[in-house]
Amino acid sequence: MQDDLKEILLSEEEIEQICKELGEQLTTDYDGKPLVCVGILKGSVMFMADLIKRINTHLSIDFMDVSSYHGGTESTGEVQILKDLGSSIENKDVLIIEDILETGTTLKSITELLQSRRVNSIEIVTLLDKPNRRKADIEAKYVGKKIPDEFVVGYGLDYKENYRNLPYIGTLKPEIYSK
Ligand code: IMP
Ligand code: MG
Repeated sequence: MQDDLKEILLSEEEIEQICKELGEQLTTDYDGKPLVCVGILKGSVMFMADLIKRINTHLSIDFMDVSSYHGGTESTGEVQILKDLGSSIENKDVLIIEDILETGTTLKSITELLQSRRVNSIEIVTLLDKPNRRKADIEAKYVGKKIPDEFVVGYGLDYKENYRNLPYIGTLKPEIYSK
């Protein structure tokens, strides 16, 4: 599997350091608040597991699964909910945990939906951000690392449901896409 990679973009050590730093910041910002961490399936699971270990305050976790409709190569901006939250988030401070923010279409829809449920606050933490790809008017308050416009895999991120189990993040060799 490792042979399919062109280069490593974020090593295990770098990811660990990012989780530590974000965790410290989130601990300060959410201490004493009714925090609910919402992981967006499936890409965020590894990041979520490592990040919440570094948030040293009371919190609960929940998950959401959505699918974006892609008409051809461009996202149409519509999002379908495949799995909704298990509990009410009314009066809670919601932190959405995402693997990567690209066009922002997915997170924009999710944020608007959750906002309508009378939450106290809602913010986004994303491990990776590709700011050059943004289409929707949305930014994450907490960003692990900004990366160039390149397709990445590993640490939860997939190419055709593959490579999610790599412990680090990298780019694929061009021949993988032409298979
Ligand atoms: P957005 O709605 O365009 O921001 O899409 C974000 C979603 O697209 C992420 O949750 C990922 O599932 C997927 N995605 C975007 N860029 C990449 C990438 O480089 N590798 C793997 N998945 C990606
Ligand atoms: Mg995803």
